[in-house]
Amino acid sequence: MALLKHLLLSLPIFIISFVFCHATLQEDPLTSIYVHHSPSTDNGGTLFKNFNKQSINLLSLNRLEKRSSLRKVNVNDYGAEGSGDTDDSEAFKKAWDVVCSSGEAILVVPEENYLLKPIRFSGPCKPNIEVQISGTLEASDDPSDYKEDSSHWLVFENIKKLFVYGGGTIDGNGKIWWKNSCKRNKKRPCKDAPTALTFDNCEDLIVENLNIENAQQMHVSFQDSENVKVSGLNVIAPEDSPNTDGIHVTNTQNIQISDSVIGTGDDCISIVHGSKNVEATNITCGPGHGISIGSLGAGKSKEIVSGILVNGAKIFGTKNGVRIKTWQGGSGSASDIQFQNIEMENVTNPIIINQNYCDKKKKPCKKRLLQKSAIQIKNVLYQNITGTSSSDIAVKFDCSEKFPCQEIKLQNIDLKCEDGDDAEAWCNNVELSYLGHVKPRCNSENIFTTFWKYFSWYI
Ligand SMILES: *[C@@H]1O[C@H](CO)[C@@H](O)[C@H](O)[C@H]1NC(C)=O
Ligand SMILES: *[C@@H]1O[C@H](CO)[C@@H](O)[C@H](O)[C@H]1NC(C)=O
Ligand SMILES: *[C@@H]1O[C@H](CO)[C@@H](O)[C@H](O)[C@H]1NC(C)=O
Repeated sequence: MALLKHLLLSLPIFIISFVFCHATLQEDPLTSIYVHHSPSTDNGGTLFKNFNKQSINLLSLNRLEKRSSLRKVNVNDYGAEGSGDTDDSEAFKKAWDVVCSSGEAILVVPEENYLLKPIRFSGPCKPNIEVQISGTLEASDDPSDYKEDSSHWLVFENIKKLFVYGGGTIDGNGKIWWKNSCKRNKKRPCKDAPTALTFDNCEDLIVENLNIENAQQMHVSFQDSENVKVSGLNVIAPEDSPNTDGIHVTNTQNIQISDSVIGTGDDCISIVHGSKNVEATNITCGPGHGISIGSLGAGKSKEIVSGILVNGAKIFGTKNGVRIKTWQGGSGSASDIQFQNIEMENVTNPIIINQNYCDKKKKPCKKRLLQKSAIQIKNVLYQNITGTSSSDIAVKFDCSEKFPCQEIKLQNIDLKCEDGDDAEAWCNNVELSYLGHVKPRCNSENIFTTFWKYFSWYI
């Protein structure tokens, strides 16, 4: 009976929506995707020329070199015990002051366990500073130690020419923060937890060969920095640890991230506002949420990101592969972006652009046609991307009606479902071009498939 009533009630809605959707499709059958087909032999096609020439200017990084003849300043000589259960923060601060004020020095952390409260390693310093971490730095997990600044644990700030390396481990000891996160415990308020390792306002920075694990929230954040080379990081946290991004890049220019393995509970790499010339190569990512540009434009902000190259990545078991995500109502742009030579394995959304993001829990999402602004997404190349999707939809471009995604290019794409079936592409308001073998492709049928999907919800 209830079912019948439900059916009778929903029938008029269904008819109205059917007519409405149908009318929209009829009136404007295919304008929501614009496809340029390029002959598959045309490898130097003009559409792609700009991309091959697009140079990400990282040359200035080459002058960064390690020095070996520096004075060693050992934290143990300043009172650190390295026992793992006494607070060594003061010893680290004293040793840092010596290194920073004298320059030409290495802060040495031997192979022991050091328990640390939040510390700011601040500059400006005399030139040529290194930090060699061979041991383990473990974060205090007493939230009252973070009263002054609940968003950071270890911070390096206002330093020019800094090298941080050594093969040691930075352990955020994050369990207590995860347990109290509003994502795990819906009754708790949503509050920021500390980022384990932050580099703020650094210039000419190298960070290499470190293990960073179990961060309270994000693992490593580069912000307001310039000329940065990151390599050989192992970033590991459980798949269900909330908001534990691996490497986060904010307002940073000329940064190269390479040869790193990242598996956490959130994005492996997230690149957000003000970042320019970001290159990620040879990245292994999973589990987690994949490699993400954005979110951009939250709270109607104007944000710009450009010159991003992800070249060489293995992404497995993640929620997204390569994603661009922008909020409804933002402005600015995400442009000149290249994702190439990427292997996906069992990724839920291997290729995804979501230009219509909104948080339904906070307030209802706007009707798309009423949007007054959006972050413009422009000139994005996906090249040599193969592997499997754990969902049917391997390629999803959900762009805005009013500000369609422009110059989206797909070249040599081969994505299947994990079970071997053909995958689909779901495309809305996107200006596309194809080169070479591209599978799955968006086409007119997709619109109808989508339409029938909505249709089938009613019956
Ligand atoms: C890629 O990175 C891994 C470490 O994550 C490293 O072992 C490997 O040698 C790197 N490959 C190349 C070609 O540099
Ligand atoms: C693929 O991912 C899904 C969830 O996204 C998971 O349930 C499934 O076990 C995974 N399959 C393999 C072979 O790893
Ligand atoms: C794409 O893959 C092909 C074959 O594996 C390779 O020859 C080509 O150099 C790759 N393209 C880029 C831009 O790396």
